[in-house]
Amino acid sequence: MYSNAAFQLFSSNENSNSGSSDSTEPCLPPPPPCIEVLSSEVSSSVKYTVEPVNLGELTLLKGRVSTKEVFALPNSDLVPGVYEGGLKLWEGSLDLVKVLHKEVQLGNLSFSGKRVLELGCGHGLPGIFACLAGAAAIHFQDFNAEVLRCLTIPNLNANLSEEFLPFVTDKTNYDSGSEVHFFAGDWSQMHQFLPHRHDEGSLNCSSEQSPIAGYDIILMAETIYSISAQQSLYGLIKKCLSHPHGVLYMAAKKHYFGVGGGTRQFLSMVEKDGFMAASLVTEVTDGSSNVREVHNYFILYSIRPMATSHS
Ligand SMILES: C[S@@+](CC[C@H](N)C(=O)[O-])C[C@H]1O[C@@H](n2cnc3c(N)ncnc32)[C@H](O)[C@@H]1O
Repeated sequence: MYSNAAFQLFSSNENSNSGSSDSTEPCLPPPPPCIEVLSSEVSSSVKYTVEPVNLGELTLLKGRVSTKEVFALPNSDLVPGVYEGGLKLWEGSLDLVKVLHKEVQLGNLSFSGKRVLELGCGHGLPGIFACLAGAAAIHFQDFNAEVLRCLTIPNLNANLSEEFLPFVTDKTNYDSGSEVHFFAGDWSQMHQFLPHRHDEGSLNCSSEQSPIAGYDIILMAETIYSISAQQSLYGLIKKCLSHPHGVLYMAAKKHYFGVGGGTRQFLSMVEKDGFMAASLVTEVTDGSSNVREVHNYFILYSIRPMATSHS
């Protein structure tokens, strides 16, 4: 029933005639229920091997598991509505970690004491970086609970292990007491489960937010490929980002060939809404794949948010 053919076009525009046929999306099954996955629920039945990822001045560890073993699926990168690609390490998450590292080095960003949410985490390397850089709370979200149990939690454990920590170059602010949680489920329902969010209606009526409402920093990589999921993703971000200084760092491809999403199209949706604006932090054109970008989104607080289709 499902085909991953469209997703093989993610990285290349070869064989793609134009953008006109890009927005065909499959009819999806109902999403899995939202749940919290405890760190103790780490899978022991799936084979997990660990390897280093070189990120320039920084090295992190990532695991490798078999999609076939976890989901009983052939080696698909992504099966819409069933398995959303979390077992694969996508290029954007590496771009994002590099940008975060640079931003911290330049003094443009600090994770120290911050509440951080990584949406569509998969391997979770950006969230793991935030943890090493001193975040007070890091919450990881993925569509699939299996991804969290088989990969994200083991990856976090590997990167925080006593054997590895001494080799991490950028752990100056690491706080072993930081609060870590894992949540699985669809973006359309996730706001009910995330501990840091705004109360219903508070976006529209007041500048008086509870001091613990929302996340200070939201991170996400390669999450905007599906046009149909973008509105629930953006709605979730609005419900969960702290006001007025919360920031979103987003890494994604300029265009996801075959499915229609991409940074331009996401930005245009956000600009039409008028609640946030973006600045381009970096563009990656390695010549061998699609153009990738990292944007920093911030709240246009002077414009009082009105009820919109995304709120
Ligand atoms: C292409 S993967 C990217 C994984 C990881 N961020 C990376 O860059 O390696 C897309 C991620 O978004 C999540 N995702 C996609 N659609 C979703 C939805 N409708 N609700 C919740 N999560 C979703 C998936 O769980 C998956 O981890």
